[in-house]
Amino acid sequence: MTVPILEANNLSWKIGAKQILDISEFKIYENNHIALIGPNGSGKSSLLKMLAFLERPTTGEVLLNNGNYHRSVIEKRRQMAVVFQEPLLLNMSVYNNIAYGLQIRGMKKQSKEKIQYWLERLNIQHLKNRHPRNLSGGEAQRVSIARAMALQPKILFLDEPFSALDAPTKAQLLEELSQIIKETNITSVFITHDFSEIPFMADKVVVLVGGKIVQQGTMEEIFYKPATDDVALLVGADIQLKGRIIEEGEISLLQLENGQLMSFANYHNYKISQKQNIKVFIRSEDVMLGEGSHNNFEGTVEKISPYGLQYKLTLSCGIDICLILDKHYFLILKPEKGDKVKVNIPPDRIHVLDAG
Ligand SMILES: Nc1ncnc2c1ncn2[C@@H]1O[C@H](COP(=O)(O)OP(=O)(O)OP(=O)(O)O)[C@@H](O)[C@H]1O
Ligand SMILES: [Mg+2]
Repeated sequence: MTVPILEANNLSWKIGAKQILDISEFKIYENNHIALIGPNGSGKSSLLKMLAFLERPTTGEVLLNNGNYHRSVIEKRRQMAVVFQEPLLLNMSVYNNIAYGLQIRGMKKQSKEKIQYWLERLNIQHLKNRHPRNLSGGEAQRVSIARAMALQPKILFLDEPFSALDAPTKAQLLEELSQIIKETNITSVFITHDFSEIPFMADKVVVLVGGKIVQQGTMEEIFYKPATDDVALLVGADIQLKGRIIEEGEISLLQLENGQLMSFANYHNYKISQKQNIKVFIRSEDVMLGEGSHNNFEGTVEKISPYGLQYKLTLSCGIDICLILDKHYFLILKPEKGDKVKVNIPPDRIHVLDAG
């Protein structure tokens, strides 16, 4: 059986009376690319620090290569590199920032070639004599990625590396970094709040809520089979209802608490038996305007709020359903409070979970 490159066992971290982390088991295998997601304060950065040997847990342990090869914390840290949201660059030239990292790890040999390679790879060759304080956020983040990669770490940790960057800068760097991660044999753990970054950077998602790992799986599993209410809310299933299944089939039928019926495609193969109490999750984005084949509702507009460049309408149809309208439809419909609006929800967009 393959041995994890990094694993945490019975890990807990307490500060005073506050339990920040409580991880019974977490395994990372070589060449895994993991996205760590969770609400603010759920312990993502704390877990990253434990895994990177930057903090010591209160109880439990983190094992690198099953505890073999690298004995001291310094040796362990040398197998890893961390990139933070705010690039932590030293007050010396870009070139020296990268060189310094290599120097303190005793990797001066061939360092010129390495530095040159990563300067070119991250398109910052022209910045090599500049001081970090004069760099833009995007440039500084490129430098901190170059510095991390020049160390040739076995594991790369990235804590929201793109969150301070504007959209085009982020898109460009995301593409480049995802290419680098694919090409090198690196294992990576990537924290983000922007789920659109996940497919570029990770093939597995781990969800942390309240210091605990509540779900692990592919992005699809997390988004379409959220294991708990918290995960459902985190991934955008903002309509949460309760009911029970009254008929099972290719398209199953559920009855909401208020008696209304909904059809849902039970394609997740949930082992949910009839008459069992369930939770129902729907993403507002999945509610369609107009009539459809199933789940047609007519609702009264209760609230209209801006939603980025779109609009979010809260409709009262016995239950509250939200509808996201883009500007085009908004201008055609010109909805006002009290108007009636028809919507439908495709059965495969309704997700159910055992209410326990
Ligand atoms: N050194 C510390 N001293 C006291 N409390 C801490 C310390 N580090 C973290 N915490 C607390 O631990 C909890 C988890 O923090 P952490 O920074 O790990 O969350 P996070 O998931 O990274 O959040 P965010 O998404 O906002 O970055 C928070 O309540 C935080 O206040
Ligand atoms: Mg954090």
